[in-house]
Amino acid sequence: MDDRTLAIDGGPKTKTTPFGTGKRFGDEEKRQLLDVIDNDMLFYFLGTKVFEFQKKFAALYGAKHCICCSSGTAAVHIALATLQLPPGSEVIVPAITDMGTLTGVLYQNLIPVFADIDPATYNMDPSSVEARITPRTRAIIVVHHTGLAADLDRLMEISVRHGIPIVEDCAQAYLTEYKGKLAGTFAPVSAFSLNHFKHITCGSGGMVLTNDEGIRKTASLFLDKCYDREAGKRNPFFLAPNYQMTELQAAVALAQLEKLPGIVGRRRALGDRLTALLGTIPGIEAQTVPEGYRHSYFLFLFRVCEETLGVSAAEFSRALEAEGIPNKAHLITGGMCEYEYDIFKNRSAFPGSRHPFVNSDFGTEVEYTQGLCPNAERAFENTITMNLNEFHTDQDIEETAAAIAKVARHHASQRSAG
Ligand SMILES: Cc1ncc(COP(=O)(O)O)c(C=O)c1O
Repeated sequence: MDDRTLAIDGGPKTKTTPFGTGKRFGDEEKRQLLDVIDNDMLFYFLGTKVFEFQKKFAALYGAKHCICCSSGTAAVHIALATLQLPPGSEVIVPAITDMGTLTGVLYQNLIPVFADIDPATYNMDPSSVEARITPRTRAIIVVHHTGLAADLDRLMEISVRHGIPIVEDCAQAYLTEYKGKLAGTFAPVSAFSLNHFKHITCGSGGMVLTNDEGIRKTASLFLDKCYDREAGKRNPFFLAPNYQMTELQAAVALAQLEKLPGIVGRRRALGDRLTALLGTIPGIEAQTVPEGYRHSYFLFLFRVCEETLGVSAAEFSRALEAEGIPNKAHLITGGMCEYEYDIFKNRSAFPGSRHPFVNSDFGTEVEYTQGLCPNAERAFENTITMNLNEFHTDQDIEETAAAIAKVARHHASQRSAG
């Protein structure tokens, strides 16, 4: 046995020191929360914190309007609802995303149509999006998956050429850049999440961003039961849930917002360094960050090339874990593409009916079957996901790369020997 023996086979562990950690909340969050209590007001419309956050977040993005709500799921739902699409319309969505991208689609009685990913970037492949367009397509939800922008030039071109609006889902993509512009500023409306796992959090929360006054107005009605609080009128004229953000959430979000540039900057430095280090390891391919893109590393993804290493991602993952590097051999959806979830497979969004999966023109049901998005399905077999956060040290990154290199080299040499 020598230093190259894998830890899983009884060799020495690569990572022997704990990963860097830190506290996400501190004095600034406390001060903001005390302020809310001192103001004796938790309701957004009569308070100050939600409005202050909306102003600051819009300014950070150079957008005219930010509308806060209770979650990222709510934000995507609101964004989609502002488009006022006829029930039964189709909405193109990526095969790999969080269920929160899709919940609002179903609640608006719209039919999700899944587009495949580009295996290099794990983002929606514009060619697959275009191939999915039918006369019933009314919107495209573009997710900037893991904090890497989708191919916005091509997607926006498709959107304009077909006259189909895009909603940008930026839940994972704070301060993500695409050719010098922030993701979330390309489409007419975009959505963000403040859930626990995101770069910044207030426990649960979300934002909608737009430059369009009509969208702002519809969004603010839609998140509040269609009560027109600005006009002091209560006469709902469309169906709308209650997706309000409270002053407590906004207080924490305000404190977190101050930290956002630092958090993204640090993750970017760590993620870019790890990407560069993995570039030297045969059989390992980090998620491709194309020229002109700036990743914000909500997660770190890399591919294990079975052809080169003769090992599956699942087996590689176990060996890496034993080296002291936490990781998962899957993507954010868990072990399957979104359309393989029971809700789609069984068309059971509204149990007891097949709604909204029945095409009203033809009376046919939409089918979600295996093989629909082969690149996305393949990604579950060869991809490893790791958390990367701003508290990690440079040493953590060097050791993570060393552990990946050790496992890869072990398998490469076994392959060449065998
Ligand atoms: C891409 C994407 N969209 C939407 C959501 C939903 O956000 P939330 O959990 O705040 O409802 C998430 C959350 O994980 C997400 O990653």
